[in-house]
Amino acid sequence: MKIAVFAGDGIGPEVTHEAVRVLKALHLPGLELIEGDVGAAAYRKHGHPLPQQTLDIARSAGAILFGAVGDFGCDDLERNLRPEQAILGLRKELALFANLRPATVFKGLEDLTTLRPEVAGKIDLLIVRELNGDVYFGEKAIRTLPDGRRQGYDIMSYAEDEVRRIAHVGFRAAMGRRKQLCSVDKANVLETSQLWRDVVLEVARDYPEVELSHMYVDNAAMQLVRNPGQFDVIVTGNLFGDILSDQASMCVGSIGLLASASLSEGTLGLYEPIHGSAPDIAGKGVANPMATILSAAMLLRHSFGLEAEAARIEAAVARALADGFRGGDLGGSDGTVAIGDAVLARL
Ligand code: IPM
Ligand code: MG
Repeated sequence: MKIAVFAGDGIGPEVTHEAVRVLKALHLPGLELIEGDVGAAAYRKHGHPLPQQTLDIARSAGAILFGAVGDFGCDDLERNLRPEQAILGLRKELALFANLRPATVFKGLEDLTTLRPEVAGKIDLLIVRELNGDVYFGEKAIRTLPDGRRQGYDIMSYAEDEVRRIAHVGFRAAMGRRKQLCSVDKANVLETSQLWRDVVLEVARDYPEVELSHMYVDNAAMQLVRNPGQFDVIVTGNLFGDILSDQASMCVGSIGLLASASLSEGTLGLYEPIHGSAPDIAGKGVANPMATILSAAMLLRHSFGLEAEAARIEAAVARALADGFRGGDLGGSDGTVAIGDAVLARL
């Protein structure tokens, strides 16, 4: 049971440390943890945000626990050397195309969301975000036009097989939940989205039990704060999924609570909190490690089939929250290690 641990930048090392403590406390047979450098930390050490040795570690592991990457100090670097390239590179190199981002409101936190408690309390949704295509990976550059004006461009595209495989993930996820799938696109304007919609409709024939709906992304952004309880599974492209998942995190109270899984066709997966490196609070011991701890739970479930252990971690986090432990992100003052301790005590 080999797990690669890529802590990365900012608060990444602090929150990952707590998740590793939780994993170790489970005394999993054969557990082996191997650390690797990613992000700005890797760039400073090896001259690249995703060095070859890190990729090799990732390929040799059964799963990857990832902290965060990002560092404002690297903003002037060429794009391919910026910290974000570590996570984008891992997603692409390992064909981690399916990003699962669940969002539910923990009991007792209804008052902490920016929505009215009776609205937020109904949130129990899963965003299935495509992770290997879209405008993220299309041709991009800043060029100079003949008249001397600079122009930036990023090409958005999806091939039908890319849409098909993520659509299947969305439908299968819906089958395991409330059997409702909402496909989010911008088909009223974008051809990429028109193809997306056509292919999702084709795939739908394989899942007659799933109730499929389509929603334009602008409307979806609105519905997520108007009536988020209407959603079961949302399937969407890379860019829209990036934006909507941050929004969903605020609806449930804090981005410090949301975990994610990035899956390939096989069992290899990368697991990371959806929050970033939070440079403003890095190194202060105040970051909430719960999203990373919950990511470790997803890791056990999806890459190793350890459902009971995953549920145990999730229950311990829920209990710590119910008992009043709150990071600064939730308006509290419990530090990173104190929250880790609280979760461990409840395991
Ligand atoms: C995320 C992040 C990344 C993304 C960044 C760090 C490249 O925002 O995982 O949501 O845009 O996918
Ligand atoms: Mg994001």
